[in-house]
Amino acid sequence: MSEYLLYILIFINLITLIYFKRRKIRLILKPQKIQEIDVENVDEIFKPILKKKLKMPKEDVFVRNFCVPQTYNVEGIASDYESWILSALSKKADKIFEFGTCSGKTTFLFGMNSKENTKIYTITLDPNKIDTIRHQLNDNKTAEKHILNESVYEEFMFSGHEVEKKIEVIFKDSRDLDIEKLKNQFDLIFIDGGHTYSCIKNDTEKALKMIKHNGIILWHDYASNKRSSRDVYKYLEKTSLKIKIENIKNTSLCYHRKN
Ligand SMILES: C[S@@+](CC[C@H](N)C(=O)[O-])C[C@H]1O[C@@H](n2cnc3c(N)ncnc32)[C@H](O)[C@@H]1O
Repeated sequence: MSEYLLYILIFINLITLIYFKRRKIRLILKPQKIQEIDVENVDEIFKPILKKKLKMPKEDVFVRNFCVPQTYNVEGIASDYESWILSALSKKADKIFEFGTCSGKTTFLFGMNSKENTKIYTITLDPNKIDTIRHQLNDNKTAEKHILNESVYEEFMFSGHEVEKKIEVIFKDSRDLDIEKLKNQFDLIFIDGGHTYSCIKNDTEKALKMIKHNGIILWHDYASNKRSSRDVYKYLEKTSLKIKIENIKNTSLCYHRKN
């Protein structure tokens, strides 16, 4: 009887261990293809100033930033470190395209940090037409739920602010976006729209045509441990076999620069 109990305990321990270490186990069985890159190697602006023992950021990456406390219950927010990277890169861009507006936090950061005459386009689903959104059979269901929660805004954080004049909000399903007149134009494209396979594939394929020579594409939520980001992770891993994509260390941002 006691031997029987011991086997049950070992079995329970094993199941618990597998449950808590499942991400590590998954990575051992299927190693990540996308390699990490230090932020210093993403762009010259991130190379530090050296002061004897101290490394500090250059003025090129001093930005206007703000935090949104968790108690505000705003969905789909990038971390402060990610926001800093996005803001710093937007300082140099003349034309920016963002897939996924949500509350408009990242759009606002682009608006506040980019040059006076920078033009920013951001695409989001129309909350009044959300019931008509197309569902694809193989799309991640958790990601679909997140899309509904994140598509509720008609007014954004930048609404009424002076930077609003630089921003054009496109209320449209990005899968219906006609990019014929948008090819080879953008210095910076941020992909943070629908996290389903059909959306991330559509947004990436369009962004690769819209980005100009030496322009940068950034994807948000490359994370193997988040159920809602599984399609993003899967798609980027696959796409990294065709184009160079790197993951910026300590972030869920992936990076590609067009040659
Ligand atoms: C993660 S949120 C964006 C967060 C925002 N970039 C930020 O950090 O402040 C996702 C956004 O993508 C939009 N979205 C989802 N699927 C879309 C689609 N098929 N076409 C256009 N926008 C889509 C949602 O409406 C929502 O605004």
